[in-house]
Amino acid sequence: MNKEKKITCASFFAGVGGIDLGFEQTDFFKVIYANEIDTYAKITYEYNFKTKVDCRDINIVKSKDIPDFDVMLAGFPCQAFSLAGYREGFDDKKGRGELFFQLERIFLEKQPKIIFLENVKNLVGHDNGNTFNVILNRLHNAGYYVKYQVLNAMHYGNIPQNRERIYIVAFKNKELYYKFNFPDPIKLENKIHNVIDFKNKKDSKFYYTKNNCKFYDELKNNMIRDDTIYQWRRIYVRENKSNVCPTLTANMGTGGHNVPLIKTTHGIRKFTPKECFYIQGFPKTYKLPKEVSNTQLYKQAGNSVVVPVINRIANEIKNTLQS
Ligand SMILES: C[S@@+](CC[C@H](N)C(=O)[O-])C[C@H]1O[C@@H](n2cnc3c(N)ncnc32)[C@H](O)[C@@H]1O
Repeated sequence: MNKEKKITCASFFAGVGGIDLGFEQTDFFKVIYANEIDTYAKITYEYNFKTKVDCRDINIVKSKDIPDFDVMLAGFPCQAFSLAGYREGFDDKKGRGELFFQLERIFLEKQPKIIFLENVKNLVGHDNGNTFNVILNRLHNAGYYVKYQVLNAMHYGNIPQNRERIYIVAFKNKELYYKFNFPDPIKLENKIHNVIDFKNKKDSKFYYTKNNCKFYDELKNNMIRDDTIYQWRRIYVRENKSNVCPTLTANMGTGGHNVPLIKTTHGIRKFTPKECFYIQGFPKTYKLPKEVSNTQLYKQAGNSVVVPVINRIANEIKNTLQS
């Protein structure tokens, strides 16, 4: 498609651009504005996209600073909604739940045709559904027709990760809303061994040994198979029977609790940052900047999205707009 004719997107809480990538891969959408407060994420983002990141706090970004756009993209911070987080929703003391209201301020002023939101599954049930109702009501009051669905990456993205997320797609136009459908489930053909490199030796810092790991003996005794993923759960080693990776989190680099581990011929190790991006479905062409530390890269990967799931939804939106 001709560059000028692409549907324009503005990306908020852009992180390292997983949502942006899924939309741009359709060759139909173009991200013309990105906002993200984290300076390390900005480096990774700009390493891979032409768009420069507006690194200001969204609270101080004025609508007039943002170019007009057709689609709002936002995987807004989920700590306030996450089971693992504070469970305080919009009343989160740190104000993170309220960040949705910054999105509302911007979509009320900019009136995009479509709004795409992504969040943790728990958003739906939080506070007996009240938090989610507030979001739906705000969208309805602004004149949007809303569809939403929880999709698991292992069923919808052909990615061997058990990651359930809620996706919300809101249309200004009622007919487009009726036409749009979320993608159908697809068979998981992509196996862990296609994504994680069990064969080749990695840098020694990724391996667990008697010297650097207090629970090494438990790991060694329990991690028997080299075709599965284990997790250290504080007092026991858990094997993932479904043979998919558990939900990647932002603490992947810490080496402790819940971190997915594999047994290889070279020893027991955690994933490399690159493997974390791969298990999120980022393509091999996505580059990780050398100047960003592994700790930051792990966090960035864990905070991001499963790109092929986003891409499949973006393709459905594209089909809807083209029909
Ligand atoms: C769940 S992550 C989104 C990740 C993104 N979807 C991706 O693919 O990488 C939420 C992001 O919101 C950013 N953020 C948090 N508070 C913010 C604020 N006040 N203004 C702008 N960005 C903020 C965080 O730094 C984080 O990168």
